[in-house]
Amino acid sequence: MKQIAAIVAIARDGAIGRQGGLLCHLPADLKHFKSLTMGHTVVMGRRTFESLPHGPLPGRENIVVTHNRHYHPQNVVVVHSVEEAVEAATLPGEVFVIGGAQIYAAAMPLVDILHLTFIDADFGDADTFFPSINAAEWTEVDREHHAADERNPYDYDFVTLNRKQ
Ligand SMILES: NC(=O)c1ccc[n+]([C@@H]2O[C@H](COP(=O)([O-])OP(=O)(O)OC[C@H]3O[C@@H](n4cnc5c(N)ncnc54)[C@H](OP(=O)(O)O)[C@@H]3O)[C@@H](O)[C@H]2O)c1
Repeated sequence: MKQIAAIVAIARDGAIGRQGGLLCHLPADLKHFKSLTMGHTVVMGRRTFESLPHGPLPGRENIVVTHNRHYHPQNVVVVHSVEEAVEAATLPGEVFVIGGAQIYAAAMPLVDILHLTFIDADFGDADTFFPSINAAEWTEVDREHHAADERNPYDYDFVTLNRKQ
């Protein structure tokens, strides 16, 4: 069985994006994201794919979910449901669902592991939110706190949750 993970950076109020982009620039989180996902399959919604500044993420198998049967961007695998994305994943290790909100919501019932970055800040103009996490369904297996520094403007926590069996 493939292990399905969701990886996401979430602000205090559950926000994950605004105007098609991320809420803030947190280089430590980008590094964390890269180290977890490198060499694995990443699954994303069409909007998140189109928000990537340099196209498909290098060193990873990129799978894009869309309803559009005529969508054929280069160097990605295109599928039409999250279930199809999981089936199409060929690389070993976790299959990483990397957003956005619509794809997290569709994938949540399949997700075994949550890799959360909690950003200790609020962004008043956020317009995209992570689905609510029912704490009763999850066990926290790891938590790392980091204080803001000269490159990362907010405190943040890397938290890993495993779905209870
Ligand atoms: N904080 C984070 O960690 C993080 C991570 C990722 C993204 N984000 C942010 O999240 C926002 C984007 O999220 P979003 O919810 O607007 O878009 P999204 O989930 O990235 O993409 C939505 C698109 O995916 C396709 N789709 C969704 N559900 C589908 C289904 N069940 N079957 C087939 N296709 C489906 C549709 O594409 P078509 O319209 O082509 O049919 C839909 O328009 C951006 O602001 C982005 O920066 C934040």
